[in-house]
Amino acid sequence: MDQSGSFINGHWLRKSKIAHVSEKTFYATTPIFYVNDAPHIGHAYTEVAADVLTRWHRQRGQDAYLLTGTDEHGEKVLRTAIANQTDAQDWTDNLVNGSWLPLLETIDINNQDFIRTTEPRHKKAVQKFLQKLYDDGFIYQGSYQGNYCVGCEEYKADADLVAGEAEYAGQQVCAIHSKPVETLNETNYFFKLSEFQRPLLELYKAQPEFVQPDSAKNEVISFVSRGLDDLSISRSKEKFDWGVDIPWDESHVTYVWFDALLNYVTALGYGEDEKLLNKYWPADVQVVGKDILRFHAVIWPAMLMAAGLKPPKQVFGHGWLLVGGEKMSKSKLTGIAPEQITDVFGSDAFRYFFMRAISFGSDGSFSWEDLSARYQAELANGFGNLGSRVVSMVDKYFDSNLPAPAEYQEPDKQLIAIAQAAALNADRAMDRGAIHEAISSIWTLVDELNNYITVQQPWKVAKDESQKERLGTILYCSAEGLRILSILLVPITPKACKKLFASIWPDKDISEQTIADAAQWGGLPVGTKFESLESLFPRIEQE
Ligand code: MSP
Repeated sequence: MDQSGSFINGHWLRKSKIAHVSEKTFYATTPIFYVNDAPHIGHAYTEVAADVLTRWHRQRGQDAYLLTGTDEHGEKVLRTAIANQTDAQDWTDNLVNGSWLPLLETIDINNQDFIRTTEPRHKKAVQKFLQKLYDDGFIYQGSYQGNYCVGCEEYKADADLVAGEAEYAGQQVCAIHSKPVETLNETNYFFKLSEFQRPLLELYKAQPEFVQPDSAKNEVISFVSRGLDDLSISRSKEKFDWGVDIPWDESHVTYVWFDALLNYVTALGYGEDEKLLNKYWPADVQVVGKDILRFHAVIWPAMLMAAGLKPPKQVFGHGWLLVGGEKMSKSKLTGIAPEQITDVFGSDAFRYFFMRAISFGSDGSFSWEDLSARYQAELANGFGNLGSRVVSMVDKYFDSNLPAPAEYQEPDKQLIAIAQAAALNADRAMDRGAIHEAISSIWTLVDELNNYITVQQPWKVAKDESQKERLGTILYCSAEGLRILSILLVPITPKACKKLFASIWPDKDISEQTIADAAQWGGLPVGTKFESLESLFPRIEQE
């Protein structure tokens, strides 16, 4: 039996089983987004997931760093700029400042850096990386003949294409964009990707969690097992010039994906001041949509190995937000702008809904009905009201001073056990990238606390002066449950949890409370003066 624990308020309580984290740092990244259009909720979904994972690790006490940014080169962006009669740089500046940076505010992302691939710091570092690979014999000149999808910015094998429909009937089209591909016939520079088949297969074996979820891992392994072609990593400036110059041949620009993937290390100072790189690299998790998993799980680690850098610890390929069974996308006019949701429900509800309603790793869909139902039942009634009720009872019966608990009875002990299990299970689930499971575990405590209050009926106990001690115990336990919930949920619903925590422990900062503190019962000091709490999830008037 686990004997570790301590006496808290005169009761022996099991110590938190959450191990103290050995890794001091945590580095997570999102893909960098094409600036051919404004963000939709699919992009925001990726951002929120990476942010939740990073915030969780920060709450564990780690020095957690989140990188996001924009992918600004390539034909797709250039063509859009031209179609809008603007210069590519003006186009990207306007879209980044007007849409992509504001997105971070809209959905409450706490990122430590935002990289744009048109920044000099990035372009210089890309050239250093290319030169190194060229000098070390990993790059050679060759010719490319084949298909290219500008929507994907990807060379496509014939096997990647599908039969077109409607206006494209009779033609082969890109499976993602449903549009015909273009035929290229160019002299380009090639990266010797084919030489990395064995090292990659060894990597997948040595780091079994390198690609997650497992279904995605199997797909990547079978793809690499079939053999790899060398990769064209430049485009002739005769075709277009919106990219990073190839350092030894200025008649070519770098292939947009080769440029873009490097953002994960150029943002940390690769080739210049590598303090951050040494501190945070290799990344702990690189969150990407499943559409771009191969770039991240095959090409990217091969590039890193060629340069003598370690591959990331994990690439997590999440599912798509679907509309009518297809990937939501602006080009198919199915994109929903994130602020359409946050203007009505707020950023916390946005974050909660997508992390809770969709198993991280699987596809999912969005519906206003589902969002609205979960907002009302889970956030407003389940969590928000719980906070308000407890704070107002402490005010009403104890003049806002947190009472001391007396002897814990069976229901109190059960609540404590559920709180401790919720923290432990959520922590384990987050470690597996199972964000939805982590939230379900935390919700066992929301449900139990609501149930505890309903059964204990503090409003009845309050009528009997001889039961004052029992009332104190019930409200102490309820408030302590709120402290634990606010810490566990702050990575997911930061605004509400900060408000709640500031109300029940005004002179403490929630950022100093770790997940291990949440798993340890009895943290809230007796006598703490509560402050009033505004509604965490206000009622939304239905139109
Ligand atoms: N620029 C490349 C990534 C380069 S990373 C070195 C790119 N950009 S993108 O803007 O097209 O998409 C980026 C990511 O947005 C996708 O990988 C995915 O994470 C997210 N999503 C875009 N549409 C999405 C959905 N409909 N559903 C879920 N995520 C989606 O690819």
